Amino acid sequence: MCGIVGYIGKSAALPILLNGLKRLEYRGYDSAGIAILQDNKIWIGKNRGKIKDLEIEIGGEEVGGTVGIGHTRWATHGEPSRVNAHPHLDCKGEVAIVHNGIIENYSILKSRLQAEGHKFKSQTDTEVLVHLIEMFYKGDLINAFRKSLRLVQGTFGIIVLSSLQPDYLLVARRGSPLVIGIADGETYIGSDGSAVVEHTRDVIYLEDDEMAIIGRDETQVRTLQDKKVSKSVEKLPFDLNEIQKEGYPHFMLKEISEQPRTMADSMRGRILLEEGNAKLGGLEGYWDRLRDSSRLIITACGTSWHAALIGEYLIEQLAQIHVEVEYASEFRYRNPVIDKNDVVLAISQSGETADTLAAVREAKCKGALTLGLCNVVGSSIARETDAGVYLHAGPEIGVASTKAFTSQVVVLTMMATILGRMGHLAAEDGRMITQELVEIPDKINRILQKQDQIKDIARTMADKHNALYLGRGYNYPVALEGALKMKEISYIHAEGYPAAEMKHGPIALIDENMPVVIIAVKDSVYDKILSNIEEIKARGGWVIAVVFEDDNVVKKKVDCVIEIPHTIQCLTPLLTAIPLQILAYHTAVLKGCDVDQPRNLAKSVTVE
Ligand code: G6P
Repeated sequence: MCGIVGYIGKSAALPILLNGLKRLEYRGYDSAGIAILQDNKIWIGKNRGKIKDLEIEIGGEEVGGTVGIGHTRWATHGEPSRVNAHPHLDCKGEVAIVHNGIIENYSILKSRLQAEGHKFKSQTDTEVLVHLIEMFYKGDLINAFRKSLRLVQGTFGIIVLSSLQPDYLLVARRGSPLVIGIADGETYIGSDGSAVVEHTRDVIYLEDDEMAIIGRDETQVRTLQDKKVSKSVEKLPFDLNEIQKEGYPHFMLKEISEQPRTMADSMRGRILLEEGNAKLGGLEGYWDRLRDSSRLIITACGTSWHAALIGEYLIEQLAQIHVEVEYASEFRYRNPVIDKNDVVLAISQSGETADTLAAVREAKCKGALTLGLCNVVGSSIARETDAGVYLHAGPEIGVASTKAFTSQVVVLTMMATILGRMGHLAAEDGRMITQELVEIPDKINRILQKQDQIKDIARTMADKHNALYLGRGYNYPVALEGALKMKEISYIHAEGYPAAEMKHGPIALIDENMPVVIIAVKDSVYDKILSNIEEIKARGGWVIAVVFEDDNVVKKKVDCVIEIPHTIQCLTPLLTAIPLQILAYHTAVLKGCDVDQPRNLAKSVTVE
C-alpha cells in the first residue's frame, strides 16, 4: 500500500527521494509525488501512475533543495489522480504532508475547516491534516502538529515538511510503520526499511503515538503528549542485495527460486534430528499453555490464511489439538467467543495487515494468549502479540507471496511436531518428520530444474480464461493457494476447491476449455483423487496433475503431469506448492502481466 520517504541532509534530495520511492514500488500504488524545500519555498512534483510517470512529469527540472518528502499512493479516498496524489499543501503553500493510513473522522474535520475558510483541492482524507496544522499554527509548528494529531481518529504514518521550520522534518505514527535511518549529517525516513537500507542500516523504529523532530544531525523522539522518549538505534535485519533482483527478471521468480535457502533459514538451529523434535525460542515458556488450551484459533489473510489451513491439518493430525482457522476480517467483526483458555495465532508475512492486527487486539482484549508468526522483524503484529516466531525468509518484495508461504508452513510443521512430541507423537515419528523436513530444500531444487516443462504447460494456460484447482486433505489449501497465485498475477479467473466438492457445483463448468489443475500425490486420499480425475476426464476437461516422480497411473489418465519428489504426506504441501507458483509465474509472464506489481493489489494491506 502507500509508501513514504523523507530526507534531510547535505545532498540534493530529489534523486534520493525518487530512489527511495522506487524501493517502495513493491508495496503496490497508483500515483506518486515529491515535495522539496527549495529557496525556502515548497516545490511539488506529482503524477498519476508509476514513478517513471513522475519522472516524466518532473522532466529533468533542476531542483536544488536538501530537505524533502515523497509518497506512493494506493487510492482509498478519491480516485487515483494527480490532484489526489500526495504531498498535499495547506492554503498558503507553507506546509506539505505525506500520509499512510486513514483519517476516519475526516469528513467532520473537513466541514469544520471549510467553515473556517480553508480551501480543499483533493478528495483525500489526508488533506484535512495539513489544513489542521495551518489552522493551529500560531508561530510554533511542532505545537500545531501535535494539536492536529490529537484531534484525529484513525491511523497515520506522516511526514511534514514546512518552510516555517526549514531545518526539520516532523514525523508521527499511529498504526502505520515509520523507520528513521541515521547517518552522518543526514537522516532518512521510510515507511519500511527498504527505503533507507542503501544509505544506512542504523535505524530507529517509531512506536504508535510517538512523533519525532528530525534535523540533519539530531532526532528527538517524543510522545504525542509531549513526553521525551529515549530510543535505541537498531540494525536493519537485511542488506541492499536482499531487496534487489540480483539478475532475475522479476522479484517473484527470485523469491520462488530462493525457497530452498529460505526454508533452510526458517529451520536453521531449530531442528533436533536425534530427538525427533524442534525448538522455537520465541515460544519457550508458552508450550504448556498451548498444549492445554481449549482451542488454537489461527487467523490470517490471503496467502497466510492458506498456510493457516495447512497448519490446522498439521496440528490436529500430529498434536491432536483442536484448531480453528478464520479470516482475520471476519474474526474481528463477529464478536467471537474467546476466553482466556484459547490461544490465538496470527500469521502475517508483513506483520502489518490491518485486519490481522485488529484480530490480535480483539483476542487480547478477550483474554486469549496471542502469538505471532511474522516475517518482518519488529512489525506491529510481532510487537503486539505476547510471543511469536519469525520466519527468517528475508524481505519478500513480489506482491504475490511465495517464499513467505513455504516458510510459514515450515514453522507450522515445527510447531505441530513440538506439540505432538509433548503428547502422542512417538520419537520415531518425530524423527521421520524432522528428517524429511530437512531434506525438503534439496527436493525443491529438483522441482526448480523442471521449469521449462512447466513453462510449456503455461503456454496453453495463457490462452484460457478460467481454471479450476483441486486437492484433498493437506493439499486442499495448496489448491486454494495455486488458484490465488494464478488469478493474482495472470488475471485468469481461477478457483480452488476440495476435490470431492467439485461434484457439488464446479463440475457444471467442466468442458474442453476448462483447465483443471489437480494435486494427485500418492497419499491416503490418492484413490479418491483418481476417481475425481475420471469424473473430469469423462466431461472433457484438460487435466494437469501434480504427481510423485514414479507415478504411472495418473500419467495415463491426464493430459500432462508435473512430477515432484516423494515425501511424507504431511510435508507434501511444501513440494506441491512450488510447481503451482511456477505455473502462475510463467503464465503471467507469457500474458505480459506486471508480475511483481499486479493491478489493484498491494503487498501489505494496511487498510480494512
Ligand atoms: C496481501 C498480499 C498477499 C498476502 C496478504 C496477507 O493481499 O498481496 O500476498 O498474502 O496481503 O498479507 P500478510 O502480510 O498479512 O501475510
